[in-house]
Amino acid sequence: MRRPTVIGNWKMNASFAQTADLLAGLSEGWTGVHQAEVAVCPPYPYLAKAAELLEQSNIAFGAQDLSQHASGAYTGQVSADMLLDLGCKYVLVGHSERREYQGETDTLIAEKFEAAAKKGLVPVLCVGETLEEREAEKTFDVVGRQLRAVIERVGLEGVAKGVVAYEPVWAIGTGRSATPEMAQEVHAYIREVLGPEGEHTAVLYGGSVKPESAAALFAQQDIDGALVGGASLKAEDFLAICRAAE
Ligand code: 13P
Repeated sequence: MRRPTVIGNWKMNASFAQTADLLAGLSEGWTGVHQAEVAVCPPYPYLAKAAELLEQSNIAFGAQDLSQHASGAYTGQVSADMLLDLGCKYVLVGHSERREYQGETDTLIAEKFEAAAKKGLVPVLCVGETLEEREAEKTFDVVGRQLRAVIERVGLEGVAKGVVAYEPVWAIGTGRSATPEMAQEVHAYIREVLGPEGEHTAVLYGGSVKPESAAALFAQQDIDGALVGGASLKAEDFLAICRAAE
């Protein structure tokens, strides 16, 4: 059995005051025992606030990125140990915005995945094709390549300890989600690549997930939850998506 999982990626959004409001709203709305695993990934400066305000809830938290290095002269970077010190459980690795704007390569992403997993963080490996790649019928090639880069570094057992998020680039922040059938097709492929080792690994869908579209996505056999951007910035919307995953 795979645990339904919903993770919010706040990206570079919210102020300190908004963070406190949002976290308080989530904490109040998600007490008690739940079937679904829920986590949020606020910007680095707000992680300590997340540790404080989520303490009484069943909501975990994580970071949006980490350094591949353990420590040293890497100005501006944040290590796995630092994230663990703050109480992070998760860390996103290879988000398409980092691949695109920070030029992160498959190799670097594999190094980051390894650095996170080695220390006991749960890396959330993001994969997904651009519109151009989909139109050229290269979706499986691209997603397969992105997965294999990490598998080559940490093995199938290593990847199985993380979470995989399929986020088609054309669906991110566009309001144009993949249909449940389109997403399911790629999720089934990801599951095939992960093999029996990945039987318990959650594979999440990300890209314009909204309260209205979540249930139909989660009804698909190989969609175990969601990585949510925009809709994770409103407590009500995010909690509705979390409830749909149960
Ligand atoms: P949106 O939900 O805003 O499309 O963002 C998805 C995403 O990139 C989550 O990591």
